[in-house]
Amino acid sequence: MLVDRFERPFSDLRVSLNEACNLSCSYCHLEGGAMTKGDLTAEEFERIGRLAARCGAKYVKITGGEPTLHPEVVDIVRRLAPHFEAVSMTTNGTTLRRLAGLLREAGLARVNVSLDTVDAAAFRALTGGGEVDKVRDGIGAAIEAGLHPVKVNMVVLKGVNDDRITEMEGFCAEVGAALQLIELHTDRGNAFGVPFRGSFHSLADTERALAERAERVEIAPQHHRRRYFVPHQVEVVRPFGNSDFCSACHRIRLTADGKLKPCLMRTDNHVDIIGPMRNGATDEELLELFVQVNDLREPYWPDPVEGEAARRAVDRPEGLPRLRVL
Ligand code: 5AD
Ligand code: SF4
Repeated sequence: MLVDRFERPFSDLRVSLNEACNLSCSYCHLEGGAMTKGDLTAEEFERIGRLAARCGAKYVKITGGEPTLHPEVVDIVRRLAPHFEAVSMTTNGTTLRRLAGLLREAGLARVNVSLDTVDAAAFRALTGGGEVDKVRDGIGAAIEAGLHPVKVNMVVLKGVNDDRITEMEGFCAEVGAALQLIELHTDRGNAFGVPFRGSFHSLADTERALAERAERVEIAPQHHRRRYFVPHQVEVVRPFGNSDFCSACHRIRLTADGKLKPCLMRTDNHVDIIGPMRNGATDEELLELFVQVNDLREPYWPDPVEGEAARRAVDRPEGLPRLRVL
């Protein structure tokens, strides 16, 4: 098992299949990537997945761009599945009516569907022309196919959908999906700029209200976030300026252009793996690259940014180690 300098084990591989997307959400962080063309083959994804599993990774999440636009997405799931305890995927849901059953059969266990509003006009505006009915239909298909849980990712934006949380809760309760409310996230460079500050909506009050309403609260073992059962499941994801979020990070990413990536928010410390692979590197040599990238992992938010500490009104989840900043 690989453990980094901050005592954070590497247990999750995130694989970006492509950067292409059929929607263009205004706030999208592109999984920390650039608009590059992904050209890894299914065999290459499989080999990298197998090596990550040898390093101790137990879970793989497939992302993009929009991963279901990759022509070989089903085959890639099928090849990765035997190496991990679970394969999951983050998708915008627009293609799930066609693909959910095939993905399930190939070994996909669960899915996160990005959906910020169920209102057709608001969805169209936010995604640059997307049709919300396709996503709703996709969520239905995912549930019918037996993917479990199906989680709806709602990024809450000031003045856009911050008044639609209750509506989304109702939708999720009705269809049987869990809800993840997500605060807008950006890097340090953009953190104090007007676009970010103008759209950022704190979920501190929402989380406090959930804590009061909840019949039951669980702590998710993997990332120590609280799960509120009201009675349907709601989680609140607050990465921005949050050292607790970084201290629970177990991830290494693979970018669509074949680089290992220690942190979502950084583009200056990638480790090329596809180059050496294509030049005939052995498994042992490639495992060394995982060791290298693991040593580069460090919390992006070691300390709460100015003002954020006070804003985070909810107590730290129990059992979360304090970051030992070097
Ligand atoms: N802040 C928070 N969440 C984001 N996502 C994309 N960009 C951002 C951002 N800037 C979420 C999307 C999707 C997942 C891939 O990441 O909602 O669910
Ligand atoms: Fe980005 Fe996801 Fe929206 Fe596509 S659907 S633009 S990947 S947030």
